[in-house]
Amino acid sequence: MASEKPQVMVTCTAPVNIAVIKYWGKRDEALILPINSSLSVTLHQDQLKTTTTAAISKDFTEDRIWLNGREEDVRQPRLQPLLLCLSARKGTAGDGDALPLSLSYKVHVASVNNFPTAAGLASSAAGYACLAYTLAQVYGVEGDLSEVARRGSGSACRSLYGGFVEWQMGKQADGTDSIAQQVAPEWHWPQLRVLVLVVSAEKKLTGSTVGMQTSVETSALLKFRAEAVVPARMTEMTRYIKERDFHGFAQLTMKDSNQFHATCLDTFPPISYLNDTSRRIIQLVHRFNAHHGQTKVAYTFDAGPNAVIFTLDDTVAEFVAAVRHSFPPTANGDKFLKGLQVIPSLLSDELKAALAMEPTPGGVQYIIATQVGPGPQVLDDPHVHLLGPDGLPQRVA
Ligand code: DP6
Repeated sequence: MASEKPQVMVTCTAPVNIAVIKYWGKRDEALILPINSSLSVTLHQDQLKTTTTAAISKDFTEDRIWLNGREEDVRQPRLQPLLLCLSARKGTAGDGDALPLSLSYKVHVASVNNFPTAAGLASSAAGYACLAYTLAQVYGVEGDLSEVARRGSGSACRSLYGGFVEWQMGKQADGTDSIAQQVAPEWHWPQLRVLVLVVSAEKKLTGSTVGMQTSVETSALLKFRAEAVVPARMTEMTRYIKERDFHGFAQLTMKDSNQFHATCLDTFPPISYLNDTSRRIIQLVHRFNAHHGQTKVAYTFDAGPNAVIFTLDDTVAEFVAAVRHSFPPTANGDKFLKGLQVIPSLLSDELKAALAMEPTPGGVQYIIATQVGPGPQVLDDPHVHLLGPDGLPQRVA
């Protein structure tokens, strides 16, 4: 018989993912089951991550959660199903030795992002993946956590793995076959680079959950997309990734982003996540590619105006220079570029002419340069815990 421990505390990190074949629409709202499969790229945690500490103790009197330093209500609708799903797994996790902790212990959770929340940067995906992963560590729950993470936010199940990840929609009514799995590991395509162009760090107007609900109810285009377009695109995108075919990958990424935003416009009342700067970025990418006579850069946009750009290492410096030229920083010029080091190259007069854009100062607030990265990690260093020994949030050095 295992003895009861007074307290267990675990800290983990989880990545942001960006879909190149988009998830938009549920066939089951309660279980969070999608109307189509989706595929994403996991971004590196050196630049974008959620860190979560979870602790259980016999001394805690209630479940509590702090997000980015602010206490939130644990009864919120996405948290409870996630916790319940985990409890169910906890109950079947194995024999008594695997479960040394009382199931009745209350849990404290603190979670922080190192990037703006709700700016269309998939913060909820990283957040719920991190929560599912950290709690699974605390309770000793093993195996696939897709279902647990998915209950928080659909796209979160794709943040459970590094590299390139698909979320298979599944067919079962109970969702047991609606799972995320890796298509290729993080080291598969070392030349691939990702630039997050932060257009607005403000909270979005229409959240994904409500937005996709209205789309499912009203958009015939979304139904067509899910049934007739996405299945073939999943196969194609997987092949492009496996073959490291940048042209194919980039073209399909842009087309799928555009189709997703078209379904938003086809929703009634319509939803628009892109703004003027987003549309200028789209134009910039197409003109940049046309100038080079090949697809060197791709864009994708989620439920917000920020652009995520895919390119290869030999093109980053020139494209960053093109962005800087089109959207000159108004203040903080030195902070315009964050993340991986990029030294913008000099733009040729031919390229400037080809871009043919009136500069929009301040349109892009800053760029985060990153790459493909690994899945969730357990941090072994006890100094990184976000909760103190008393189970309350503490400042991390
Ligand atoms: C546009 O996963 O945030 O980013 O399941 O309702 O929580 P819920 O939605 P969420 O939707 C993400 C939508 C998207 C596309 C994608 O990531 O595939």
